[in-house]
Amino acid sequence: MPVVVEAQNLQKSYNGFPAVAGIDFQIQNGQCFGILGPNGAGKTTVVAMIYCFHPVTGGTLSVLGHDVSEDARAIKKRLGVVPQENNLDLELSVRENLLIYAGYYGIKRAVAEKRAEELLYFFGLSAKADQEVDKISGGMKRRLTIARGLIHAPDLLILDEPTTGLDPQSRRLIWEHLRSLKKKGLTLILTTHYLEEASQLCDDLIIMDKGVILEEGKPADLIKKQVGTKVLEVDVEPARRNTLVGSVEHLISGYQLAGSTVYLFVPEDETEAVKILNASSYVNTYQVRLANLEDVFLKLTGRGLSYEEDGDYESRSYAKTS
Ligand SMILES: Nc1ncnc2c1ncn2[C@@H]1O[C@H](COP(=O)(O)OP(=O)(O)O)[C@@H](O)[C@H]1O
Ligand SMILES: [Mg+2]
Repeated sequence: MPVVVEAQNLQKSYNGFPAVAGIDFQIQNGQCFGILGPNGAGKTTVVAMIYCFHPVTGGTLSVLGHDVSEDARAIKKRLGVVPQENNLDLELSVRENLLIYAGYYGIKRAVAEKRAEELLYFFGLSAKADQEVDKISGGMKRRLTIARGLIHAPDLLILDEPTTGLDPQSRRLIWEHLRSLKKKGLTLILTTHYLEEASQLCDDLIIMDKGVILEEGKPADLIKKQVGTKVLEVDVEPARRNTLVGSVEHLISGYQLAGSTVYLFVPEDETEAVKILNASSYVNTYQVRLANLEDVFLKLTGRGLSYEEDGDYESRSYAKTS
């Protein structure tokens, strides 16, 4: 599988502030590569360097076989961008937004018209083709922005938080579209702070925080490696939290404390730990669920992924028992 993007010790400083502080990663042809992290992690800065908007201030970055510092024009021709903020022309119709963009790429009118109709159909926007963009819903605007990013049939599509701010239904619709684009062989780079989005779509991902990569790999592998299979969410009197952790220490790979809830990370089988919970007098309630990427982020940083946190987290990792 040829490498489409390769970053080595990639850095970006804004007036001395290191927004991206020396990261390495590779993106393979045909995959959906995710950049997951909270606000301010450096996600937009990374993708903006890939699409040759922000100049690199250190290290090297090659995209589609060209160095971004030497050959931005060659790269820009072959990639599509869906920026974090919608920047559609609100006064033009849905179709005109696509045609104008095609013009920037020097695509012949007849070709552009055909391609626009195909994209409108693919994204379920045909019925809205003549509407002013101002009048369509947020989810449709987002789909149109993705369609616009595809008008010149790029080899690589970059999506910066494609579903942020959308309702769950519109979000799922976009996920389906992205899945079918991937099936057609398009390489996707996606930034997100939604762990479910990353788990659903990404073959490989990096988890970023404060300009560095905390972890990388396939979502399922990361979860298994960092957390295990299951999480027991235990509601326990705060004064007995440490007693609880002590009683299951040999059965868990780590834990998180947040208020009166203790999250116990279980490598494989939770049966033994559950027996202990059932027998204990100070456990109020508990539930068993599958481990997810949010747990990974919590374990790595002691903070939640999506929101400002109150800092009332405490975490510790144990060496795996198996
Ligand atoms: N143009 C800019 N000038 C100065 N600082 C910036 C600029 N863009 C981003 N930053 C800072 O760089 C860090 C990373 O920002 P960004 O790449 O937008 O993160 P993310 O997309 O993960 O939210 C943040 O601390 C942000 O405030
Ligand atoms: Mg961003």
